[in-house]
This record gives sequence, C-alpha cells and structure tokens, in this order.
Amino acid sequence: MEQELQSLATEAKDGLHRLDDSHQLEDFRIRFLGRKGLFSTVMKKLGTASAEDRPRLGQLANSIKKEIEKLFEAKKSSLAASTPSNASGDLPDLTLPGRCPEGGKLHPVTQIMTETCEIFENLGFSVAEGPDVELDHYNFEALNIPAHHPARDMHDTFYISDSVLLRTHTSPMQARIMENQQPPLRVIAPGKVYRCDSDITHTPMFHQVEGFLVDKDISFADLKGILTVFTQKMFKKDLPLRFRPSFFPFTEPSAEVDIACVMCDGAGCRVCKKTGWLEILGSGMIDPEVFKMVGYDPEIYSGFAFGLGIERIAMLKYGIDDIRLFYENDQRFLSQF
Ligand code: PHE
Repeated sequence: MEQELQSLATEAKDGLHRLDDSHQLEDFRIRFLGRKGLFSTVMKKLGTASAEDRPRLGQLANSIKKEIEKLFEAKKSSLAASTPSNASGDLPDLTLPGRCPEGGKLHPVTQIMTETCEIFENLGFSVAEGPDVELDHYNFEALNIPAHHPARDMHDTFYISDSVLLRTHTSPMQARIMENQQPPLRVIAPGKVYRCDSDITHTPMFHQVEGFLVDKDISFADLKGILTVFTQKMFKKDLPLRFRPSFFPFTEPSAEVDIACVMCDGAGCRVCKKTGWLEILGSGMIDPEVFKMVGYDPEIYSGFAFGLGIERIAMLKYGIDDIRLFYENDQRFLSQF
C-alpha cells in the first residue's frame, strides 16, 4: 500500500512535469485528482488496511495528495501566464489580411447642399438659417399669399395649429431677413421643407436652398447671370438654360428654370419625357407687394429670388430615378457617393 502511494506520487509528479497545455492539464486533473481518479481509488483501499497501519497510511496519502494538488496549481498558473490570451492556446495567424474599418461618408443630399452653398458663397452670398416650424404669417401672409388665396392649394401643408405649420418652402426666410436688414442683400437660406406628398419624385420632407438678392437696379438679367454660373459650376458643363414663364405670388415676373437634360444632352429621353429639358428651380423678381410688407420702397429697390430643390439636383447629377432612395438608409446605395 505504501509503495503503491509512493509510485502514484512519482507518476503524478512526472506527468505534471511533462504537461504543456491546458487540455493536458485538465486530463491530468481528471486522471489523478478527480472524484474517480487514481488518488480517490487508493484512498478507498485504505479501508482494507489493518487498524494499526491505517492512521499512518492515511496521513501519508493525504500529504502526498496535498503536495500534488499544490504542484498542479503551480503548473496551472505558470501555463496560464505563458499562454496567449486568446485562450485556446493558438497563436493568431499573422498572415491574414487586416480588417479595414469602413469610413463614414456624408449623405449625398448633404454633399449637394454643401456644394450649392459653397458656389453661392463664392458669389458673395451669405448663409442664413430659419426655423422648420414656421408661422403661417411668414410662410404665406408675408409672401403675398393671403388666407383663401388659390395659390395656397399649391402647398399641401402640415399644420401644427391654425397659425403654426411646418414650412412648405424656404421662401419665408426672404421676409424674415428683409424685415430685419436693409439692402443691399445677398442671402441664401438652406434647409428642410415639408409637404404632404409622397411618390417617386416627392418625399414629405425635402431640402431647398432659397436665394435672394436685393439692391438698386437689379434686373432679370442679374438673375439669369447668377443662375447660369450656378448650373455650370454644379453640373460642371456649359448647360443651356431655359426660363419658362410661371407664377408665384411673391415674384413678378416669375419663371421656372429648366436645364438641358443631363441624361441625353437635350436630345429627348425617358428622364426628360422626350422634351430635352429638366426643371430645376422656381424664381422671379421679388414682388413689390413683398417689399412693401417689409418696409422697403419698391421705387428704390428691386431684387430677385429663387428656390432650388436639393434632392432634385442630386437626382439629376447622379442619375437617380427614385427620390425615396435618399431616405431608406440602404448602405449599398449610400456608399456609392
Ligand atoms: N418657394 C417656391 C417653391 O417652393 C420657389 C421659389 C422661390 C419661387 C423663390 C420663386 C422665388 O416652389
């Protein structure tokens, strides 16, 4: 019995010595120290020893077991210290290609918005931003669109109360700026606008940039000049422009501006509905009634205004045929810009 204990001790020490990974360590624990392990088996046999040998053998068995347990713990910590922290014990494969984090990008609408503002800033315009939640007064009244005026039908308005609404265009900024500043003025007002409308060319929220210039002796030719420079810079080619007579209550005369279709260069295609032209903005000479409401003398001052749709420009520039793509947050779409 005593011999059996001693050889078990030698075998265990030997085994521990040769161990070199965490799997072998566990195998060792089960084989020697586990509930059904070799030490337990020897301990059970103690019962068969004679009464006078039993205490001595018991003590010996206990002290051997304690010693092995101590050596086992020491081996365990020395293995843990020398094993890389990815636990399985395998070294990382340093030949694998690295994982490159994907860089974020500005949304295409933000990009076109920024580009638009930069073009006008270089032409001497300053930037002003106004509230999305607007008073009926600035959105309609101050722009010569009184209650019950048929022009209000042009806007499917989201009302918050009788006198408060989500602005349907950026034109209220004309009235807000003019009532606080004296000419000469060159201002652009970028921002979100809201209309109760949704299909492949309309979303309930979209972006506009309003622009207006007020001074002495400003004529329609100045409007044409500024818009020609803008479209050339934005579309990076010498695109023909067409001014089509139109109507806005706050401009007189008014014009909608078309550019030669960027898809077919004016030849006629599906995008321009065979006309060769694409509408990009509304514009006109600021109506004398608007000047009167902000206290400018229309005999002294004149000016022009325009409002362009940013999504519309982005669609034409990038050849996108459904405006809703901008707001679906599909990475595959967004990562292209
Ligand atoms: N506010 C008009 C619209 O949203 C556009 C416009 C702006 C027209 C300025 C004339 C002058 O349709």
